[in-house]
Amino acid sequence: MKHYLAAALVIFTTTGVVNVAGAQRLKNMEIEFPPDSVSLPAGPNLSVVNRNCMACHSAEMILSQPVLTRAVWATEVTKMRNVYKAPIADADVGPILDYLAALK
Ligand code: HEC
Repeated sequence: MKHYLAAALVIFTTTGVVNVAGAQRLKNMEIEFPPDSVSLPAGPNLSVVNRNCMACHSAEMILSQPVLTRAVWATEVTKMRNVYKAPIADADVGPILDYLAALK
């Protein structure tokens, strides 16, 4: 992402598209995002979890938790739906919990 922004800046400034009289300069801030390179381990219903849980945060958010019971995961998934408005279909909740409760 950073590279694209930097490349875009170079292109714009060298072509003068942005650099008109008293051009505003865009700053590129250094922001540390949580690691995104970690994937959830294979298992039944992995695709359902990937489809429902990876839109807002990385797998690290799930994998950094201790081993949790199905009931605790259910509370967590309910929180994602109610508090953070995760658009998770009712029919997906069971398969998601099966997957999460099987994580070691
Ligand atoms: C609509 C966005 C969204 C979706 C989709 C989403 N989450 Fe989250 N999740 C969040 C936010 C926001 C936080 C809080 C992040 C923070 O505190 O930095 C969070 C935090 C978490 C945490 C850390 C503990 C906590 O409660 O803060 C876990 C575990 C988690 N999510 C699991 C899941 C799982 C499992 C799914 C899929 C069923 C999911 N999330 C889907 C937004 C989402």
